[in-house]
Amino acid sequence: MRTKWAVIFVGLLFLFAAGAALVQVSADNKSPTQNTNTLLLSADDPIGDNARKMLEDGQKAFRFDTFGDEAFWGDQLQLHKAIEGAKNGGVGPGVSPKMALSVGLKVDMDMLPADLVAQVKANKVDLDDPATTLALLKLNAVIGVTGFFDREKKQLIEVGIQCSLCHSTVDDAFAPGIGHRLDGWPNRDLNVGAIIALAPNLKPVTDLLGVDEATLKKVLNSWGPGKFDAEVLLDGKALRPDGKSAATLLPSAFGLAGVNNHTWTGGWGGVTYWNAFVANLQMHGQGTFFDPRLDDAAQYPVAAKAKFGHKRDPNDLITPQLAALQFYQLAIPVPKPPSGSFDEAAAGQGEMLFNGKAKCATCHVPPLFTEPGWNLHTAAEIGIDAFQSDRGPDKRYRTAPLHALWSIDKIHKGGFYHDGRFATLQDVVQHYSQFLKLGLTDKEIQELVEYLKSL
Ligand code: HEC
Ligand code: HEC
Repeated sequence: MRTKWAVIFVGLLFLFAAGAALVQVSADNKSPTQNTNTLLLSADDPIGDNARKMLEDGQKAFRFDTFGDEAFWGDQLQLHKAIEGAKNGGVGPGVSPKMALSVGLKVDMDMLPADLVAQVKANKVDLDDPATTLALLKLNAVIGVTGFFDREKKQLIEVGIQCSLCHSTVDDAFAPGIGHRLDGWPNRDLNVGAIIALAPNLKPVTDLLGVDEATLKKVLNSWGPGKFDAEVLLDGKALRPDGKSAATLLPSAFGLAGVNNHTWTGGWGGVTYWNAFVANLQMHGQGTFFDPRLDDAAQYPVAAKAKFGHKRDPNDLITPQLAALQFYQLAIPVPKPPSGSFDEAAAGQGEMLFNGKAKCATCHVPPLFTEPGWNLHTAAEIGIDAFQSDRGPDKRYRTAPLHALWSIDKIHKGGFYHDGRFATLQDVVQHYSQFLKLGLTDKEIQELVEYLKSL
């Protein structure tokens, strides 16, 4: 009996080996079929048509949709009153265009009529007058902010905010802060905290957090430009244990396709999860949101009490936009490094280090530069503190997809890592070299930096 089974076994092994050899032969000789008809070029193609419509709808939502959040920023916080100022029926001095630009708001020059552009050029427009800000709002030229006016188009009665407020900027083609739109670029000049602190009525936020107005204003003013705290309305943690602000940098919203988990702490979910989260819970749009993880009163005391994980507004303006909104963001490409912005020869050496000795590619897997799969790590794995990761549901940091690292005056203004703790790419690489005991020489560090700048 034994020998019979042994013979069968050896026979099977042989068959297997022969099969493998055959596969090998055909793999060596294979060539793809040349007949690869491109779908999107044919005239009546439902997939191509759908893709174009999704892009259009998604762009509209990303740039202009307030999801009804003017009920919060306008009716409740009364932000419009601070913008128009007492002279125009609001309160206080109002927000002049100069002030708006100084808190990082951006103006879309393509929305300005030619005669207005000529007047601005000739210095004939008063940039110190809040009435000019109202005129810009009527033209829908302030990126990420929509003004709602009364029927006569005179009085500003509400304002709402959009995704583009934080995730778009301009190329400064006309003047600093005024130019063509750049969707997906984080606005690292935008002082979100200072803008919210202008609101005449902060009671809805102080009630939610259970703090007084002075404390809230102190927190809002501690964020600084380019930062926002997306978790404070869940966990009420405004400061880190070291006393510094708990806000994180505004991330880019391009190059997101293929990346599984999103945000700095990742474990929340994918792009569409986070879009629904932000539109409902941060922008305070009208919608539906479900996430029972927010019922955990130990991790998310504020959210659990307010039942944020079970939001159902009577009129859902968010859910119908989610598909197109996600589609649009996935389509936004990573801006390419301008020519001459990095040393090509050194970058070539750096690439080899990245994929070899420096071990970067074990986590930042090219060409996604994050892991395909579950792209999360503990704080201990990357050698930093766990304050921010502990605020996410998975208590991890997401392997940041490395995008447009050459842009240190716009996209990465404010530094690297979630809170900008590393001012330069040299600092980042030096951190890894020490922490992972890579023993990189100064030359190797510089080569890695040049490679990073090429991404
Ligand atoms: C007030 C500023 C602000 C607004 C408005 C805003 N976001 Fe964000 N967004 C952030 C911040 C801050 C983060 C990072 C949050 C974190 O990691 O905790 C983020 C994260 C993201 C991410 C994850 C990016 C990545 O690297 O994975 C996407 C995608 C995104 N936002 C899209 C949107 C969309 C779409 C909207 C509109 C529905 C929107 N955001 C509105 C500030 C904002
Ligand atoms: C164990 C996995 C891991 C390894 C290995 C690793 N990284 Fe990272 N990297 C991360 C994570 C996670 C983050 C996000 C940190 C945060 O959110 O604060 C990150 C962030 C970064 C950033 C900041 C990106 C931004 O948008 O601010 C850079 C740059 C970077 N890594 C480069 C490197 C280089 C260069 C190496 C190799 C020397 C390397 N990484 C090795 C996991 C890793």
